Amino acid sequence: MSQKSPPTMLAHLITPQRNGRCSRREFLRSAALGAVAVATVPLLRGHTAHAATTGGKNMLIVYFSHSGHTRRLASCIQRLTGGDLAEIRPLAPYPQDYDAVVEMAKQEQRRNARPAIAPMQPDPADYDTLFLGYPNWWGTFPMPVFTFLESHPVGGRTLVPFCTHEGSRLGKSEQDLRRLCPQARLLKGFEVRGSRVDGAEPSVKAWLSELGLI
Ligand SMILES: Cc1cc2nc3c(=O)[nH]c(=O)nc-3n(C[C@H](O)[C@H](O)[C@H](O)COP(=O)(O)O)c2cc1C
Repeated sequence: MSQKSPPTMLAHLITPQRNGRCSRREFLRSAALGAVAVATVPLLRGHTAHAATTGGKNMLIVYFSHSGHTRRLASCIQRLTGGDLAEIRPLAPYPQDYDAVVEMAKQEQRRNARPAIAPMQPDPADYDTLFLGYPNWWGTFPMPVFTFLESHPVGGRTLVPFCTHEGSRLGKSEQDLRRLCPQARLLKGFEVRGSRVDGAEPSVKAWLSELGLI
């Protein structure tokens, strides 16, 4: 195993952006801020899926979130679309310590693990359009999202990815979605830095309206 510290290893995963918006230094700084956030942001576990109260066009917003950024983005999409919300919850929660979760996620990805997840309510099978939200972990979505996709086949339905990250954007997650859900109608994904989720509503709105979902 490498002796490098996890944030240093993470930095190697960053895909350089042509416009130079994602520098290694930026990600390292964000990773450090992320560590503070993980330590201080209260856990919102226990958040339950709830029924849509407005015309949600049969949409379910499924998400995984460890430190809360993706959860807040999912809530924003829920408010704007009126869809229902459901969380992917690993049966064994990840550690809150940043270095520990980084290392654990790396090992899970290396051995192509499928961490067990809690049964999901509402049932994704009842929806025509599935949003799928996740943080970028080591260049793609966390392994519990693989578990979700394999245990709830999307088939030919519409799949709309959204992602929070600290520089790598969607990484290779859309490629992985195409591979795992070859028949799905995969729409253009949305990405935002985790630290910018709270100001992202106008961009989220523009993306949803471009896709004709609001
Ligand atoms: C295990 C782990 C791996 C990560 N890997 C990356 C990465 O490869 N690229 C990146 O830009 N950000 C990476 N990040 C940063 C997260 O994608 C970012 O902080 C995200 O907003 C966290 O979302 P959450 O609060 O919903 O868990 C990683 C974070 C963790 C904990």
